[in-house]
Amino acid sequence: MAGIRWPPEDSDLFPARTTAVTATDLISDDDRSVAADSWSIKSDYGSTLDDEQRHVDAAEVLSASNFRAASDYSSDKEEPDTNEVEPSSMLGLQSYWDATYAEDLVNFHEHGHAGEIWFGAEVMDVVVAWTKNLCGNISGAKNAAEDSSSKSELSNTVGELSTWSVLDIGTGNGLLLQELAKQGFSDLTGIDYSEAAIDLARNLAVRAGFSGIKFLVADVLDAKMDRKYQLVMDKGTLDAIGLHPDGPVKRMMYWESVTNLVASGGLLVITSCNSTKDELLQEVDNFNKRFGTQDQAQEGASEPADVFRYVDYVRTFPTIIFGGVEGSRVSTVAFVRN
Ligand SMILES: C[S@@+](CC[C@H](N)C(=O)[O-])C[C@H]1O[C@@H](n2cnc3c(N)ncnc32)[C@H](O)[C@@H]1O
Repeated sequence: MAGIRWPPEDSDLFPARTTAVTATDLISDDDRSVAADSWSIKSDYGSTLDDEQRHVDAAEVLSASNFRAASDYSSDKEEPDTNEVEPSSMLGLQSYWDATYAEDLVNFHEHGHAGEIWFGAEVMDVVVAWTKNLCGNISGAKNAAEDSSSKSELSNTVGELSTWSVLDIGTGNGLLLQELAKQGFSDLTGIDYSEAAIDLARNLAVRAGFSGIKFLVADVLDAKMDRKYQLVMDKGTLDAIGLHPDGPVKRMMYWESVTNLVASGGLLVITSCNSTKDELLQEVDNFNKRFGTQDQAQEGASEPADVFRYVDYVRTFPTIIFGGVEGSRVSTVAFVRN
């Protein structure tokens, strides 16, 4: 079980998190869901103890390193010398993920292991069920608007879901896409910049009978896809990108890049352990202002339109508390692309 590291009480970087946290606070604040069990990120598919410990350590780093000041990141090198890199930023480097998935790939071939489920199976199940409902509701509402006599309700969801094009960015072992396939989504693509991750994801999908899922090696920050997607999923990828030594800049690049990946009217669903719902909303608001201003300057438009608009968030993550503070937060927030 991984423990959570709360920010120092005198931190002025993230004021919302500076108060001492009690069990009651954690329960009552649904923006800060506690999924302590999930944080053990144990794979249901089997794993060696060393692997588990490595990922638990990594998850702690992901969670704790959010409290680093943006100004701490001064390097403008793509891959800084490892001896200059603090452990908390290793998860932002491609070399970390290449090594991780290369090891997972060996474990797959030798022992049949699938690797880890980031944030745990329970969180993944909640995210998938919630996303399915959200897409089903949107499809139902669209049909009702187009045809007032339409009987299309959630009973029709599976048929509707098969029409959604889905892109999972930073797909890792691709297990999220397999779960979406089980729910009725069928136009599924996963991208990751780690070749070993994509190799693993392909092998796992074929073994599970989901050979229709497409997997491509691509950098989210520079993805040149030949289409846009109606549903773009991100589970833990923005968190990892933010841990690059140039995290704040990379996060800005992330928003510009996903703007080109999500179809107009499509959804972006982000699951993060490192940002609360409010922090994600603030980040999107900042991006909308920046991007809208750029658009305005370029096109002379009078009113810049928001690029992403908040839709909904998950309120139902498991909240399990040990000793008042052990556990961690996971937020899932959906935005629609205007
Ligand atoms: C925390 S893991 C999550 C993996 C997967 N989404 C899951 O939930 O199991 C972060 C993933 O993002 C990938 N990643 C990080 N930065 C990326 C980038 N710029 N482009 C593509 N993939 C990236 C890593 O290789 C890794 O697979």
